[in-house]
Amino acid sequence: MTRRSIWNRASDELTFAPLADDLEVDVAIVGGGITGITTAALLARAGRRVAVLEAVRVGYGSSGYSTGNLYATVDTYLHHVADKWGWDRTRQVVQSRRMAIDLIEQNIFDYHIRCQFLRQPWVLYSTDSSAHEDDMIEREYQACLKCGLDARVSNEAPLPYSINKALVVAHQAQFHPLHYVRQLAAAIRSERCHIYEGTPVVEIDQNHALVRTAQHTVHAQHVVMATHTPKGFNTLQTELAPYREYAVAAALAEKQLSGGIFWSAGAERTSTRLVEIDGRPHVLLIGERHKSGQREDTDAAWRKLEQLLRARFDAQAVEYRWSAQHYRPADGLPYIGPSIGSGHLYLATGFATDGLTYGTLAAILLSEQIAGRSTEYDELYSPRRFTPVKSVGKFLKENLNVAGYYVKDYIKGGEAKALAEVRCGEGRVIEIDGDKLAVYRDDAGDLHAVSPVCTHLKCIVHWNRAERSWDCPCHGSRFSHEGDVLEGPALAPLERRTIAGLDGAAPKAG
Ligand SMILES: Cc1cc2nc3c(=O)[nH]c(=O)nc-3n(C[C@H](O)[C@H](O)[C@H](O)COP(=O)(O)OP(=O)(O)OC[C@H]3O[C@@H](n4cnc5c(N)ncnc54)[C@H](O)[C@@H]3O)c2cc1C
Ligand code: FES
Repeated sequence: MTRRSIWNRASDELTFAPLADDLEVDVAIVGGGITGITTAALLARAGRRVAVLEAVRVGYGSSGYSTGNLYATVDTYLHHVADKWGWDRTRQVVQSRRMAIDLIEQNIFDYHIRCQFLRQPWVLYSTDSSAHEDDMIEREYQACLKCGLDARVSNEAPLPYSINKALVVAHQAQFHPLHYVRQLAAAIRSERCHIYEGTPVVEIDQNHALVRTAQHTVHAQHVVMATHTPKGFNTLQTELAPYREYAVAAALAEKQLSGGIFWSAGAERTSTRLVEIDGRPHVLLIGERHKSGQREDTDAAWRKLEQLLRARFDAQAVEYRWSAQHYRPADGLPYIGPSIGSGHLYLATGFATDGLTYGTLAAILLSEQIAGRSTEYDELYSPRRFTPVKSVGKFLKENLNVAGYYVKDYIKGGEAKALAEVRCGEGRVIEIDGDKLAVYRDDAGDLHAVSPVCTHLKCIVHWNRAERSWDCPCHGSRFSHEGDVLEGPALAPLERRTIAGLDGAAPKAG
């Protein structure tokens, strides 16, 4: 299935040429999502020479596959942040996120960006009167008040189904994330600010501030890794858990909900919003998250969301289905700032599902740090922070889970299924003559084989049925059926393999 979000369809195809020469700039930015493009905008405005190197297209990563919600609260809830970090730090989180949303609004004004930006409420609601959900909403309400947000509790929400209780926070925002990031990129392109698409970076030399593509080298004084998760090996990866989340969107015969960010508070954990496409109202529903590479029947996630959407809305056919990745930090806060062990390399990662705002905040903090100035938020978000107490529970849980995959996949010796059993559209890891292969059969019946050993740190990849990709359960690298890197920390593709003797009785790997 092609990866197409509701935002892609309505976006202008804007293409920047790939890098065609070696280059010398002040700052090389790897990745053209909201983090990379906003960082480039701020640095270029401050007079720096900047190059953004984007592997595919601006907005191709999670920025263009998100929900387009901007809020000062957080996915894990403010009261949980306060449990770990205390109220002063939690207030700083809210202040800094508000500052980032204000920057987005300012950029839209300054650069004349048309991206349907509107101030809207953020609503956290429960559908039944469980004591747990009510308590959670009450705790989050108190947290919002303590952090200076304009919050109230109600037993109504502008949704077409009944709810039990709702926490409503005023003056948050929604926009079209892909229009924003692409139009911002187009507006900042100049002699000083170069943007290259179709330019995958294959090596980042953090000691010499060098960035290499297959053919060219970019020399810089500073490198910003705006790739959502750090590329290559970085100790931070042990603190980040990759998750996939699914989305469906359908046209509505009539408007059945108002503008606003609607999060369900129960175990269902969905996010719902209205989107106007070509003047027609659509409802967008997001949820069904799971750790990347650790769920076999990924199609089921879309089916479940579709059922829920149909149960709640009088919707027409589901026109859009997609999924995207996010990275959850062990101690609940993102990592923004200089990398451990390098004075030249800057990181911006661990945004969970709050990264349109955190990515913009990262741009503010990193552009200040590169200019040699500090901010009141540097310490809070520093990648150099060490918080064993705050992250230990989550760290152990996520990394025991990763260790499980290293061990499990190697000792069980593959799934040992016959090639003939691999059906069209299916992928399997198969052992042939003691050699493991990741085998995929396309719709025409042809087999494609790659090594199943992830090029990041050697976990075994798993087939993702819904997206026809090989996904690594350890740190979230994803590869196409031909082995090309789609996302995650891996820099190199999966090794391609040929399968000899396909028509014979005993196929051999070669
Ligand atoms: C389903 C879902 C819904 C979400 N909804 C929201 C929301 O409503 N609000 C919110 O605040 N956050 C949301 N998020 C989170 C948010 O989308 C991300 O945190 C944010 O987009 C991250 O932006 P980024 O620029 O850091 O990364 P990305 O947008 O992923 O951009 C990284 C870029 O780096 C490029 N890249 C990678 N490797 C290389 C390489 N080797 N060379 C060159 N380029 C490379 C990629 O192609 C990509 O374009 C959501 C996330 C998910 C999964
Ligand atoms: S992503 Fe780290 S081993 Fe695969």
